[in-house]
Amino acid sequence: MGETTETDDDGATDDGDPQSAIDAQGDRRREELDDRVFDHSAGDEQAGIPFVGAGPGDPRLLTVAGGELLEESDLVVHAGSLVNSELLEAYCDHAELVNSVGKDLEELIPLMRDAYEEGRNVVRLHSGDPAIYGAALEQMDALEHEGVPTYFVPGVTSAFAASATLRTQLTLNEVANHVAFTRPQGKTLSAEEDHISDFVEMGDVTTCIYLGTHAVRDTMDRLLEDGHDPETPVGVIYHASWPDEDVIVGSIGDIADKVEEAGYRASALVVIGDAVTGAGYERSYLYGDWANRGSSGSSAENTSEPEASDD
Ligand SMILES: C[S@@+](CC[C@H](N)C(=O)[O-])C[C@H]1O[C@@H](n2cnc3c(N)ncnc32)[C@H](O)[C@@H]1O
Repeated sequence: MGETTETDDDGATDDGDPQSAIDAQGDRRREELDDRVFDHSAGDEQAGIPFVGAGPGDPRLLTVAGGELLEESDLVVHAGSLVNSELLEAYCDHAELVNSVGKDLEELIPLMRDAYEEGRNVVRLHSGDPAIYGAALEQMDALEHEGVPTYFVPGVTSAFAASATLRTQLTLNEVANHVAFTRPQGKTLSAEEDHISDFVEMGDVTTCIYLGTHAVRDTMDRLLEDGHDPETPVGVIYHASWPDEDVIVGSIGDIADKVEEAGYRASALVVIGDAVTGAGYERSYLYGDWANRGSSGSSAENTSEPEASDD
């Protein structure tokens, strides 16, 4: 499969509609994965427009690769208030800055395409990691369909900043064997597609809720209606890693009151599960039986042992 597609040879109408471009790119991927999947690693500098994860906020939590690309940029299209202005000042002082908030694909795609075709270094800067609730792929597909190559540069997603702030792990032996990145029902997600209660029901899942600050009370009310233990720990981390970061810790039963009292309606990560407190876990197999298994000096990478966990 070629790198980019100027024309649509799948038979889809090339009518300039981003949805047609998304559908055509999806059809291509279904047939065969892009060569670049096998030719490049995450972190490689590649041809085209990089979709960079800015990390959670603190400029020091931007990756080295992301920082280098921003320093070389001429135009940065960024995710508005979710990207810390300190980061923009530190890395993009020299560049033209465009806030993507309130711009649709019909405006964003020609803006980035034209700048790229003029030979400018364009960076698309998303908050956290672009692969988590970033709506990056639709922009990339629309650009690729117009002959502009694109690629991802990962970032630190806010759930990882939140767990560092909480001084815990999202996975913890015997306490949290799984992690769910999710969002609550609302305009984008129907009630049937909201699985927060299912994740909490599983018991050993750390549920990380994005885009749910405004809906903490509704979410907790639904969990209580579904019979979940009101004492289940919940942490709400507002602006993780920003100078005004705030941490509210409570339970399914009382977190809504606490968040309302603090007045947060956006920009917080809600974490549900025993991993919030980090209490009650068991020592790990990695530094127990597995470490003492009898072979000397071999690592998880060079033995045929099942993959060891870092828990
Ligand atoms: C559109 S999503 C983008 C998520 C982003 N791509 C990421 O990986 O973190 C925005 C949501 O991410 C969460 N978020 C983003 N930055 C945050 C931060 N620094 N602290 C807490 N939550 C944050 C909030 O739940 C916010 O509503």
